[in-house]
Amino acid sequence: MPAIHQLRVELPGHHYPIQIGTDLLTDSASFASYLSGSRVMIITDTTIAPLYLNLLIQALADYQVNELILPDGEQYKNLTTLNQIYDALLQQRHDRQTTLIALGGGVVGDITGFAAASYQRGVHFIQVPTTLLAQVDSSVGGKTGINHALGKNMIGAFHQPQAVIADISTLDTLPDRELSAGLAEVIKYGLINDPDFFTWLESNISALRQRDPVALAYAIQCCCANKAAIVAADEKEAATRALLNLGHTFGHAIEIGLGYGTWLHGEAVAAGMVMAADLSHRLGWLADSDQVRIRALLAAAGLPIKPPALSPTIFRQHMAVDKKVLNGRLRLILLRGIGQAVISTDFPIQALDDTLQACCPT
Ligand code: NAD
Ligand code: GLY
Repeated sequence: MPAIHQLRVELPGHHYPIQIGTDLLTDSASFASYLSGSRVMIITDTTIAPLYLNLLIQALADYQVNELILPDGEQYKNLTTLNQIYDALLQQRHDRQTTLIALGGGVVGDITGFAAASYQRGVHFIQVPTTLLAQVDSSVGGKTGINHALGKNMIGAFHQPQAVIADISTLDTLPDRELSAGLAEVIKYGLINDPDFFTWLESNISALRQRDPVALAYAIQCCCANKAAIVAADEKEAATRALLNLGHTFGHAIEIGLGYGTWLHGEAVAAGMVMAADLSHRLGWLADSDQVRIRALLAAAGLPIKPPALSPTIFRQHMAVDKKVLNGRLRLILLRGIGQAVISTDFPIQALDDTLQACCPT
């Protein structure tokens, strides 16, 4: 069955498709053009494997396929798990013509992508995202990597996939909490530069939570088109790509402060966007009414609009090692309105302290 939507990520020297549709996982034609040799290693996790691994293996019946099933969870996006991938590739004698396929959410996608970036100095890989978050964000754009105990996504590489194959049918089995976590990144795109999409989300958030396939396909396509444009303009995050990190500096502090996997990434980003909005409001950049709309939409998406009980000191400590710190100066993504995100170092540190004091109830 043909993809409902097909987009392209256009980069200097490389371009690749994003296919968005139903039942793509079982369609061998979806994969055939993107496999470089006869060998494939599918990497997935213990939750996804019983649901979708056999379907994908059947679709790849003409190839020599190995699989590796990783433990499930953000806390396993680390060097130990990465090493399991290298072990499996070497034990099965995969050479440079192999293709890795990441079948799963952002954790599987990020770690598989980094394995592909580094195994024998780089092999091809395909992203088959199975969470909403991965379909709208992490599978597109080539950021790959793992976490370090001292910092989220601190070890990694830019390595673009050969294709992104987003099968919306897989979202049928996604738990509600994970669907909501994906909606945080969806809402992020409206906040960054697409006020009309934000307004559309306000009207369609219930349809999305009820998994209306037409609404989901539209939202995924909007997000991917938006991300593809941002990545095409700034692949290695020299400037504007940093806008995609709205809410993430606060959010990463939540993820590390609580311990990886306690709050979902999307939940931490949601609370982080509320904190970024609070700071923007304190600076006089964001109208009160916009702040109210942001909180209302996140709440309607089933997301937290307050951070967990972490002290301002913990926030400051973890925010200080964010990748957006340049020359010792913290850069934050802030809002000058809905759909008007900006990269800023231009805020008094007192205003940030006030946001932390106001948002952190400890
Ligand atoms: P995840 O990969 O942990 O998946 C969430 C959970 O859903 C897991 O338990 C998984 O096993 C399960 N699951 C996946 N697909 C399923 C399905 N179809 N049915 C039932 N269960 C399913 O989390 P995520 O939210 O997809 O990704 C979060 C990660 O993505 C974080 O590590 C974050 O840093 C990263 N990320 C990366 C980028 C990037 O640009 N590379 C962007 C955003 C987020
Ligand atoms: N999610 C951030 C980025 O891809 O740049």
